[in-house]
Amino acid sequence: MDLTDRPRRLRRDGVRDLVSETTLSPSDFVAPVFVDATADERRPIESMPGQERVPLDDAVERVEEVLATGVEAVMLFGIPESKDERGTRAYAADGVVQEATRRVTSETDAYVVTDVCLCEYTSHGHCGVVEHDAAENPTLTVENDETLELLAKTAVSHAEAGAEMVAPSSMTDGMVGAIREALDDAGFVDVPIMSYAAKYESAFYGPFRDAADGAPAFGDRRHYQMDPANRREASREVALDVEQGADVLMVKPALPYLDIVSDVREHFDRPVAAYNVSGEYAMLHAAGEQGWLDVEATARESLLSIKRAGADLIVTYFAEDVAATL
Ligand code: PBG
Repeated sequence: MDLTDRPRRLRRDGVRDLVSETTLSPSDFVAPVFVDATADERRPIESMPGQERVPLDDAVERVEEVLATGVEAVMLFGIPESKDERGTRAYAADGVVQEATRRVTSETDAYVVTDVCLCEYTSHGHCGVVEHDAAENPTLTVENDETLELLAKTAVSHAEAGAEMVAPSSMTDGMVGAIREALDDAGFVDVPIMSYAAKYESAFYGPFRDAADGAPAFGDRRHYQMDPANRREASREVALDVEQGADVLMVKPALPYLDIVSDVREHFDRPVAAYNVSGEYAMLHAAGEQGWLDVEATARESLLSIKRAGADLIVTYFAEDVAATL
C-alpha cells in the first residue's frame, strides 16, 4: 500500500486552522430585530427560543445587546399598531420601523438594514395589494405593478428615517428597479439595495409568521415566491435584480437552498447573502430542548456550511449566540 498522500497530516491541532478554507466572524452576521408597536414590554417569541419582540422604547437597548456580541448589523422588522388593505403603516413617516430606525441610527453604531415588504402591514397578510373582494376570490393574485409604488414609498420612508440599506422581500417583479429609481429621485443614491433575489415559497418561514404577525389570512404566496423545485429559474430571477441595480443578492431560505447560494456565487459578481430563516433556527432549538442536538455546535456548523456554499453574509437569529463564542 503506497500512501504518499495522507490528508490526515493537516488535520492535527496547530495546522488545522492554518489550512482551514472557511471562517466565521461576527462581522459576517446580520441579526434580525423585531420592534412591536403594540407591545409595552418585551415578549418572547415562543417558536423561536431566545428571540423576542421589543417595544419601541427598548429598540435601542435591544440593538446595543446585539452590538455587545460583536455583530455590527441589524435587520429591523416592524409590527405596526394597525393594519389595513394597503399596508399604509409600512410607508408612514411615523411608522414603527421608521421610528425605530431613527432612534437606532442616531443612538447606536449599528449598521441598519430594513426589510421592505407589506405583509406585516396589510390586513390580509399578503406582500402587496390584492383586489378588494379577494377574500371571496379563490384565484386571488397580488397586484404586481400596483404594489411597486407602495414598496418604493416604503423604501424611501426607511431611507428618510436613516436606514443604511434596504432589503425588499416581497418577490414583486420589478421591485429593485422601482426602489432604486425612487431612492435616487429622493437623493438616496448611496443607500444600497440588498434584494431577496431568490426567495422561495418555503414552509420554513412558519415561526417568523408568528413572530411578525405576517401570515396570509387566505391563500398562499406561491404565485409570487419561487417554487422550491426550481434551480435554473433562480438564475433568471437574480439576473433581473442585477440588471435593476441590486447591490447584494440574497437567497432565502439558506440551508435547504445551498445549491442556489453556490450558483449565485458562481454566476454573479456581487456580494451574496443568505437568510438562515426562522424554521432553520426553530428546528435546532427544538432538538436541543429534547437533548438530541447541541444547538451551539449545530448552529455554528450550519453557518459555516452557508459560508462554504458561497455566502458573504448571513442574516441569522443565531448571530448573537454564535458571535459570542467566536
Ligand atoms: C417578509 C419576510 C418574511 C421573512 C422575512 N421577510 C416572511 C415571508 O415571506 O413569509 C421570513 C423570515 C424567516 O422565516 O425567518 N416578506
